[in-house]
Amino acid sequence: MSVAAELDTQTATGLGPPLGLLAELTHRCPLQCPYCSNPLNLERAHDELSTEAWCDVLAQAAQLGVLQLHLSGGEPTVRRDLAQIIARAASVGLYSNLITAGVLLTRERLADLAAHGLDHVQISIQDSDASNADRIAHYAGGHGKKLEVARWTKALNLPLTLNAPIHRQNIASLPAIIELALDLGADRLEVAHVQYYGWALKNRQALMPTREQVLASAELIAEARRRLKGVLVIDFVVPDYYARRPKPCMGGWGRGIITVTPSGRVLPCHAAQTIDGLVFENVRDRSLHEIWSDSAAFQAFRGTAWMREPCRSCEFRELDWGGCRCQAFAFTGSAANADPACDKSGVHAAFTDVARAESGRPAEAFTFRRPSPDRRAG
Ligand code: FES
Repeated sequence: MSVAAELDTQTATGLGPPLGLLAELTHRCPLQCPYCSNPLNLERAHDELSTEAWCDVLAQAAQLGVLQLHLSGGEPTVRRDLAQIIARAASVGLYSNLITAGVLLTRERLADLAAHGLDHVQISIQDSDASNADRIAHYAGGHGKKLEVARWTKALNLPLTLNAPIHRQNIASLPAIIELALDLGADRLEVAHVQYYGWALKNRQALMPTREQVLASAELIAEARRRLKGVLVIDFVVPDYYARRPKPCMGGWGRGIITVTPSGRVLPCHAAQTIDGLVFENVRDRSLHEIWSDSAAFQAFRGTAWMREPCRSCEFRELDWGGCRCQAFAFTGSAANADPACDKSGVHAAFTDVARAESGRPAEAFTFRRPSPDRRAG
């Protein structure tokens, strides 16, 4: 079937194009955040897609209707061909967002990426306190380098988002993190409580905040949003373990986001490989639009036909789409069950009990991917 005919079919079946493409250019990363969203078994450098293959993926994505490109990893600046990939994104009309730890960048390289068409920079921070931030990322000197890169970003007139994953070991710094975002001139701050699957599940006890801490953080964010309206946009993701309603994870499975891993596997969600039994097709074998339209992994939890009770008859089923499939699998052993974050789930009480119990104990030491801290920043 031609691309045009296939897209016509999508429109006829109510399936629109994905809004965003998350391109995980590499799983290589100098940081070792204890809540890393990459899989437990990382893909190897020698399996990564070539420059030409990534450029082809971007052209296919634009043809499919994707508007936003998120260049991620691992650490995407590890790729020496990043400027070529950004130039390709610009030439096919994709808005490019570089999601980076920043620690490997120089001012000259960032300027070169901007000159090749980079539209936006998103920098992750682990805390406002440098020593705690470097301890969490397991990377000496990283925090100071991130601040430097944030200032270069603004000096280049690029929009800047700071992303701050929040957990029990940095939640007390939230007021200072907001001040830091203001000081750096960030346009947007994403305060995202850690979600517990993949590597974060290994460190859940060390990361889980108490319910009281979560409620206090929500109040603090609400007050900051009122105070900073028109100055700083603040996005806030609450932790599922204390929620009553599940979040519409990924905007619904196979509805808005398409992820391509370093080796070319196409996923409906960046964490989808944590779910046993799904088979992911590869852009080396099939086109992006074919995989988006009819691959088994995308169809598995798309829409509502796959739902069991209580989701099947729930009035919110087309609002939250059953919540998070990865969390349902991680906690219940089946991705077709309701997200345990939902209070209609039969295991919701057990789910919140875990959070209360773990957050009430002294934090365990982090489990890092590699035993030694790293330092490669200049
Ligand atoms: Fe995969 Fe929520 S993280 S569906």
